[in-house]
Amino acid sequence: MTLQLAVLASGNGSNLQAILDRIADGALDAQVRLVLCNKPEARALARARAAGVAHLALAPADHPNRESFDAAMVAATREHGADTVVLAGYMRLLTPGFLAAFSGRVVNIHPALLPSFPGLRGAADAQDYGVTLAGCTVHFVDEQVDHGAVIVQAAVPVNAGEPLDDLKARIHAMEHRIYPQALQWLAEGRVRQEGRVVRVLPRLDGKAVAGIPDGPWLVWPPLEPGF
Ligand code: GAR
Repeated sequence: MTLQLAVLASGNGSNLQAILDRIADGALDAQVRLVLCNKPEARALARARAAGVAHLALAPADHPNRESFDAAMVAATREHGADTVVLAGYMRLLTPGFLAAFSGRVVNIHPALLPSFPGLRGAADAQDYGVTLAGCTVHFVDEQVDHGAVIVQAAVPVNAGEPLDDLKARIHAMEHRIYPQALQWLAEGRVRQEGRVVRVLPRLDGKAVAGIPDGPWLVWPPLEPGF
């Protein structure tokens, strides 16, 4: 069923862009009903404007506490008819009230192979630690930072001595593939969660997917055609 998305962003919005692009080319069965930002200068707002998508900046400073701010976010999301909330570089912790309003329908992307390196510096922390495989994770959101059940991960090799920006760019490129893919699995009703464990059900058309990577990375569950 077509997903009705609210995308929450704080910055650049390149994941928002990837989602808009996959919707435009027909790979992702979704509509972005609203882009919500907590920063008025976020480039994500300009991307929404360019795509003709409703967008809104809400200022935390206009609210006495997190609960009140998140209640305004819930109201805006509902008013625009969104049923699924996509965090795309949204750098605030959601309150229990927000999560209860969209129970089981809030997803996030993080630039690390969770549970390693949660927080604001996922890729940098992985590089500083010296891991040889970095990556990114799409997961359901719970009340802890970068913590909910994992839907899909992509592993990306770390090249010794490379600039952090190069590693970040390669991780970002994979984010832009796995996030729309995870959303399409949700749209197709193929995502089952049992406790912490998520299973992606086989394709409805019965076609097997080889899952053989076309580059120096690995995505699991494997990407399907279009992503
Ligand atoms: C992305 O790398 C995303 O994984 C990260 O913020 C970036 C936003 O980029 N999120 C987190 O670190 C969450 N803890 P974008 O604005 O270009 O989509």
